Amino acid sequence: MAVLRINGGKRLYGETVVQGAKNSALPCLAAAALGRECIVHNCPDLTDTKAGLKILNALGVETSFENNTVITRAPKCLSCSKINDELMKEMRSSVMFLGAILSKCGEAEISYPGGCSIGARPIDLHLKAFSQMGVNIREEGERIFCKVEKLKDAKIKLAFPSVGATENIMLLGVVSDCEFEIENPAREPEILDLRNFLNSMGGNISEGKNGNLLIKGVKALGNTEYKIIPDRIVALTYLSGIALCGGYGEIKAVRPDHIKLPLKFLEEAGNDIKCGEDYIEIKAPRRMREFGIINTMPYPDFPTDAQAIFMAASLLSKGESCFVENIFENRFGHIPEFLKMGANIRICDNSALVSGVKRLKGTELYAKDLRGGAALVVVALSAKGESIIHNTEFIDRGYENIERSFSDFGGEIVREG
Ligand code: UD1
Repeated sequence: MAVLRINGGKRLYGETVVQGAKNSALPCLAAAALGRECIVHNCPDLTDTKAGLKILNALGVETSFENNTVITRAPKCLSCSKINDELMKEMRSSVMFLGAILSKCGEAEISYPGGCSIGARPIDLHLKAFSQMGVNIREEGERIFCKVEKLKDAKIKLAFPSVGATENIMLLGVVSDCEFEIENPAREPEILDLRNFLNSMGGNISEGKNGNLLIKGVKALGNTEYKIIPDRIVALTYLSGIALCGGYGEIKAVRPDHIKLPLKFLEEAGNDIKCGEDYIEIKAPRRMREFGIINTMPYPDFPTDAQAIFMAASLLSKGESCFVENIFENRFGHIPEFLKMGANIRICDNSALVSGVKRLKGTELYAKDLRGGAALVVVALSAKGESIIHNTEFIDRGYENIERSFSDFGGEIVREG
């Protein structure tokens, strides 16, 4: 199995370009099954993207993927309304295809999705919303059978602004003769990206009062050519690396307006940040101050996906930072690895209190999930001596080539095996 070998302890200097957002690309690929011909630029070249393409192929959608552009040609009727267990287990986003399949076929059969083990990750909110929209749902063991009786207008109040549930409701409702309103929808930039993508194909999804989402069903969707937004979490990974190691960096092809709050935390901790429309420059101090309290919450609050990465950035800071994880109950898998390197962290329930230390030492490390794995790379780059990171397949789910990006900043990082 491949490992990342990192010789840390050097300041970082350089620039890099941010890849397209995985969490946008995958729902947009599901949406492509609803259109005719879609040309989707800036799709990250990741194992999860390839898993998404495999699902499209299994449904009868023709696809090609070259130079970060996916081209899809969907048939009028999908050739299949089931996703097999193997494909469902490959990634969490496989569940995004449920809304699209139901819309096209009137029925669908899937199993519970896989993905990183960062918590229970139920899909009850998706299924409850579907049932309000007129879908009959039957669960048998691991399999879920859905059948559209007749879609009916609905005002769906989400108990939690779930990213996946909001996306699935859009995917089921966009082609219909009904109107749907989502109260308390997720507002992540990736949600807006999916909405823009669907509207570019002829959909009619808009924002109503109190930020509610209004879906006015249309007869059919057509062709589109679209560019996926930059990956805000990947951008934050590079910024955290420079903040922790010290140095200077320019991050290009990024949307600073998508990460306002994390940038504010970095600034308040002593980093000099300059933003243009699509770039961020960071000049890190010799030693950062603490972050204070970081509470993960739905957008526009602090993203859970950046919790591990920012915790990494705080390990050598002057004071104490507290991280409260409110979204997923099992998202501290990186902490035991940080401790092996000499970090000082105490966990109490869903909070982790970090007291900055003067130095960290390299060692053998094991990634347990995607963002936690990227956080290990960030810490290993700052730690004196050599680190070897195992389970790189987790990291590869979300980063096109993390070793090349950090090498662009002068980091000593190579992939072996
Ligand atoms: C998406 C992202 C993931 C990110 C997360 C939060 C994708 C593929 N994944 O995941 O990277 O970490 O948003 O920004 O885009 N919940 C329920 N029932 C449901 C759905 C969710 O209880 O039916 C709970 C979850 O357990 C969790 C919270 O709601 O506690 C957030 O989940 P959600 O926003 O749905 O995240 P995902 O769509 O799974």
